[in-house]
Amino acid sequence: MSLKGKKIMLCVSGGIAVFKAAALTSKLFQEGAEVKVLMTHSASQFVTPLTFQTLSRNDVYQDTFEEKDPASVAHIDLADWADIVLIAPATANMIGKLANGIADDMMSTTLLATQAPIFVAPAMNVHMYEHPAVLRNMSILKEFGCHFLEPGEGLLACGYVGKGRMAEPEDILSTLQTYFNEDTRDLIGKKVLVTAGPTREPVDPVRYFTNYSSGKMGFALAEQAAMRGAEVTLIAGPVHLDTPPRVNRIDVLTAEEMYEAAMSEADRADIIIKAAAVADYRPVVVSKEKVKKSNDSIVIEMERTKDILASIGKKKEHQILIGFAAESEKVEEYAMKKLEKKNLDLVCANNITSEGAGFDKDTNIMTLIRKDGEHIHLPLQSKHDVANKILDEAKRLDLR
Ligand code: CTP
Repeated sequence: MSLKGKKIMLCVSGGIAVFKAAALTSKLFQEGAEVKVLMTHSASQFVTPLTFQTLSRNDVYQDTFEEKDPASVAHIDLADWADIVLIAPATANMIGKLANGIADDMMSTTLLATQAPIFVAPAMNVHMYEHPAVLRNMSILKEFGCHFLEPGEGLLACGYVGKGRMAEPEDILSTLQTYFNEDTRDLIGKKVLVTAGPTREPVDPVRYFTNYSSGKMGFALAEQAAMRGAEVTLIAGPVHLDTPPRVNRIDVLTAEEMYEAAMSEADRADIIIKAAAVADYRPVVVSKEKVKKSNDSIVIEMERTKDILASIGKKKEHQILIGFAAESEKVEEYAMKKLEKKNLDLVCANNITSEGAGFDKDTNIMTLIRKDGEHIHLPLQSKHDVANKILDEAKRLDLR
């Protein structure tokens, strides 16, 4: 009964996946949760409210003006009652309404009124899911702090094959169990600072030097740290990634901007993880006008940027400082030199030439090397799993 006593408001919007929401209601109830179901009229075209009423043992809400209790205003009451809100299935329409502040029915009104964390399980046709308007609305909801339960890929009810199938009730249940499990929220009270992505060093108004970093490792670290309850600040170079829920993001472009942001945030952090691939050099002169080509070759003089990690290493007091070493040879030897030179507590070393590791991949292969010389080898696994192992080590070091 891992959800015993948890108050879950289940918002069921209209799509064929409503049948899965019925199974989900049953599972939530069996796990001890108190479930109140809100349905749109379209949802009730697929499965009747009576099914949800029977499975949840509670009244089902549909109409803003059908007040069941004269002593309270139903949509406000429900909004305040919930520990969490789960929109499953979440249609393109309901996602669009919430993203744009539209409140024209019971569900959308209640969603605007609640301050509880919102979990969204989209379900729709693959082309709808990929429509720029839907992608934009989902991105807005992520910025608002909504958690997304990614849809699966496969044969959709509409006949198409692709992404859009609502997450399975078992997976939704397990996400909620993790969310409510105090043991997995072991970074509550900790302030974590993460840097991620590349930096961009301009040559002139149209050209710049950069590197292949995608930011995925740093964003996974920020996301997992926030999931584990930490207060997270993410300093991000230019990347195409959505801000993870409940993460405070500071966007920067150059190594100098990242230096300024990191130095001003470092003092208040407990754990600092520098996953960014900061440019080591930048052009000495940045031309105000576009540099015109000629038939001659050109030489661009480069100067060193400030080493942010080493600067924090010099001034750190209580903070746990973690750096990255992306190498193509003598990985552990070079990584250990960085650990010592930059006064780190832990260095995360990887060989960028290995299959499944390095830039723009969803997986990584790493060796974590601690100051005391301990090596922890992490075989091929997702960047999310690697992130959690790094956070486990950070926590262990912080407790010493
Ligand atoms: N780093 C930093 N500021 C810089 C450069 C790097 O904070 N100006 C940090 C990175 O975020 C990473 C680590 O330092 O955590 C990488 O170390 P670095 O010595 O810069 O490695 P590389 O430049 O990749 O390699 P090398 O020095 O061996 O050329």
